[in-house]
Amino acid sequence: MIDRATINQILDAADVVDVVSDFVTLRRRGSNYTGLCPFHNEKTPSFSVSRAKGIYKCFGCGKAGSAVNFVMEHEHMTYAEALKYLAKKYHIEVHERELSDEEKEQQTERESMLIVNEFANSFFEDTLHNTDDGRNIGLAYFYERSLSDETIKTFHLGYSPDDRTALYNAATAKGYNRKFLFSTGVCTDDNHGGGFDRFRGRVMFPFINIAGKVIGFGGRTLKQDHAKYLNSPESILYVKNRELYGIFQAKREISRQDKCYLVEGYFDVISMYQSGIQNVVASSGTSLTDGQVRMIHRFTENVTVLYDGDSAGIHASLRGIDMLLAEGLNVKVALLPDGEDPDSFARSHSASELQQFITDNETDFISFKVNILLKDAQNDPIKKAQVVTDVVKSISVIPSQITRAIYAKECSRMLDVHESVLISEIGKARDRQKAEDFKKRQRAKEDASRSSQNLTPAPDNDAPVPEVDDTQAPPLGTQPVIQHGEQQHDSFIGTVKSVHERLLYPQEESLIRYVAKYAMCYFCDTQYADGVERPTSVVEYVNNELLGDNIEFTHPIYKEIFRYALSCVPDYYNSLSELEEKLDAEGRQRLAAGIDGLRNRSLSFSEIEKEETNLRESIEKDKQDAIASFSINFFERRVCSVENDEIRRTAINLVSEKYQLSQIHTMYAHVPTDFERLFVLVPEAINNWKNAIVQCHIKDIQEELRTSGQTNAQELLERLNDLYQRRRELAKLIGDRVVNPI
Ligand code: CTP
Ligand code: MN
Repeated sequence: MIDRATINQILDAADVVDVVSDFVTLRRRGSNYTGLCPFHNEKTPSFSVSRAKGIYKCFGCGKAGSAVNFVMEHEHMTYAEALKYLAKKYHIEVHERELSDEEKEQQTERESMLIVNEFANSFFEDTLHNTDDGRNIGLAYFYERSLSDETIKTFHLGYSPDDRTALYNAATAKGYNRKFLFSTGVCTDDNHGGGFDRFRGRVMFPFINIAGKVIGFGGRTLKQDHAKYLNSPESILYVKNRELYGIFQAKREISRQDKCYLVEGYFDVISMYQSGIQNVVASSGTSLTDGQVRMIHRFTENVTVLYDGDSAGIHASLRGIDMLLAEGLNVKVALLPDGEDPDSFARSHSASELQQFITDNETDFISFKVNILLKDAQNDPIKKAQVVTDVVKSISVIPSQITRAIYAKECSRMLDVHESVLISEIGKARDRQKAEDFKKRQRAKEDASRSSQNLTPAPDNDAPVPEVDDTQAPPLGTQPVIQHGEQQHDSFIGTVKSVHERLLYPQEESLIRYVAKYAMCYFCDTQYADGVERPTSVVEYVNNELLGDNIEFTHPIYKEIFRYALSCVPDYYNSLSELEEKLDAEGRQRLAAGIDGLRNRSLSFSEIEKEETNLRESIEKDKQDAIASFSINFFERRVCSVENDEIRRTAINLVSEKYQLSQIHTMYAHVPTDFERLFVLVPEAINNWKNAIVQCHIKDIQEELRTSGQTNAQELLERLNDLYQRRRELAKLIGDRVVNPI
């Protein structure tokens, strides 16, 4: 695993303009660079790269990200692969984190298993092409199913001889360890010191993962009396429902076409691929999992699921598709004619017919689901109510509010249920889901705190943002004694009930945006409990404010971004003092050289003095500018490059929004940038947010006073008074700009 320090070194070194230029011709325009977007087809450049921000953004297709993202997307690499690619480009030596004994064992086991699979795969391929049985049985079967030699090669199809020990003998003769023959499952232990082959007499489909490694096999029998497909057993290498069959061959085309077709089986993928539709993967017969959905999302947001016309499992699969919706994907469904599966259809039609059929028949998933379910329910009112519940559940998982609203409208028409009823039901379902998610996160957090380092590639992307060693940290979490000119309060505002969370998101967004963009920038000096006054950065200031009122971000992603920013503080101060040393040394040199120069000119003493002062000032100004841009970039670069897709995407959106606009402004006049107004903007955002929280509390207490008996009325009234007091104080701070969120 790449260690944290190396990752940071790589992220600091990677210059986005430089990285992108290896693949796209960029032209300078103002402070940005533009070029033709490599992620979609275009004739006029809408792809823009900002060196200062370290990000690219396409205003045509919306793709945006950091240097790491670019490499991941463009080269179809994993996070770790992209980091290694950049390390190589910038000649950075990659320090791998020392693995624990258990990890070491797992890793060597993994590698050994990969080697065994690689061997088995070439054995099967070799058998298919170069033995009589392979050609007469295996190859003949593939030809019968209309596969071309090229296709057979592309998918590395093979044949396992109908012989108890063909592979076992070949492998052991070559010195492969029996242990790994068994743990990969290509052979089975006979418990008498020998072993036998698992896939005897089957045609073989190697399961190739996204990185191009053979992690398992599916073998299809050619006889009647056997189970049709036999797969490798699950192992640390092969977790069937985490992988997508065909992803390695399809990924480039999925991202190029910005669309993915999802089918069920091995032959479906292969036949469609052969007929020219190459952006296709299979869930291999199981229902979809989170990991599979996220893998698709790495390449596109658009998924069309192809169903067999007579698919019995259609109802069961409906549920799996909700997961695609929840991930924010645009899901469509196309039903094939009765009795056809994608494989048979692709074989009996030309590529353009297949394409045309899909285009003509794909409908959005929600309408598809409503139709299917309604057909079943006929006129049974109980069943119909169930349909409504079902559909509400599907809509409620869609992240985009606009999309949800559109579906609510559409379904209200289809189901003949009032739109407002649907909307309210969707809201309820979302609240329930949120409560569940909260519990899940809580559990994940506990797990995460047990395993500390997790910026390194993990099989699932749920890992929270990394924590760093903060033993060197300034006293985060200690409340400052003097709070930046504001009075202390006797009562905290406290965190709000979860029903209000969504009301607070916009307020939280304004604040977290400043954190994402300016976390490490100097904000003010603060006196801490140990009596020492210390410079305080934006993120520390915000943290103090949150601690002071015992509140935290309710939006899960914002919360993670904030936590990550705090965790980067110690590292920032370390790097800052290094930078300062360097700048000071440079400054001294410049000064010395400058003074030498002055001496050589015949100037009066007072002129020399004046020139020297000018020089000192300009050196100091350059130093401050360098520190400012270092501070701005420090966190922005890190957070726009974290491994977790969701966090990275959110962060990129936060920092990249509107940056074109400000350019236009600055062409005409000096408009103060956000950076120059941080001391106004950040407290304003905090106060607006606090105000919103206070309003929520007030509303809750008023509600409680109305509904509860008189038992705790006194207490509630006191609390209410406190809140009114806080609201007045905040109103003064906010001035005229008080926005009532409710
Ligand atoms: N599958 C599997 N293990 C099984 C059965 C099915 O992995 N025991 C997966 C395979 O990926 C298979 C897919 O589910 O391709 C669909 O199964 P099925 O419809 O039974 O097979 P087909 O793909 O139609 O295979 P064929 O066309 O060869 O009959
Ligand atoms: Mn089939």
